[in-house]
Amino acid sequence: MSDKKLVILISGNGSNLQAIIDSVTESYIQADIAAVISNRGDAYGLIRAQLNDIPTHTIEHTQYTKRTEFDKALQICIDQYQPDLLILAGFLRILSADFVQHYHAKILNIHPSLLPKYPGLNTHQQALDAGDTSHGTTVHFVTPELDSGPLVIQASQEITSAHRASNEPALQLASEILEQEHIIYPLAIKWFIEDRLKLSQNGAELDGELLRVPKQLQTIQSEDKPH
Ligand code: GRF
Repeated sequence: MSDKKLVILISGNGSNLQAIIDSVTESYIQADIAAVISNRGDAYGLIRAQLNDIPTHTIEHTQYTKRTEFDKALQICIDQYQPDLLILAGFLRILSADFVQHYHAKILNIHPSLLPKYPGLNTHQQALDAGDTSHGTTVHFVTPELDSGPLVIQASQEITSAHRASNEPALQLASEILEQEHIIYPLAIKWFIEDRLKLSQNGAELDGELLRVPKQLQTIQSEDKPH
């Protein structure tokens, strides 16, 4: 195992966290998960971490009146672990520019849309309402703007008439897209840990090549395909 360290921020269920834990356990990602930090004490992801003997912390955002104070407390907690990579995995807080700058080129996020389409919330419903035939999910480097920053990899999901006819089209779509997230997020983290993925002044680079458009799961080489 490499001695690289990951710190993972969550707010909820933590299914992406679980996919990352599994990838580390199987040595698909050769790194150590140093800590999992949640802004909510009831996040199920905390239990997932504890079941895997990963240190956990809860920093309730409701205890802070100012965003910058919460971010500072979060930063102090993270920095005791000196992570090589900070991973946002369903972390539902907007982070201040100073915080993001502190971890420049070392923060990844996953967002459930084909960015730059639909930053923010309710992405599945927005794609359905717009009559889109394709939707998906994106891993990107984090910059101070919400759900922005250089794109790394996307997975697409066709929106079919069967989705639209289902009882809960947005939920149906969300669960299918989540499965794709569990593939592309560990893959992007693996690239980063292996020093293949970097954020340069020009943007995200994979194997020294600028990603003018994000990689697409459906078209990448089999050698890069996850387990
Ligand atoms: C995912 O849809 C992710 O794209 C978004 O938040 C959700 C997290 O789900 N950022 P989980 O907590 O990993 O199950």
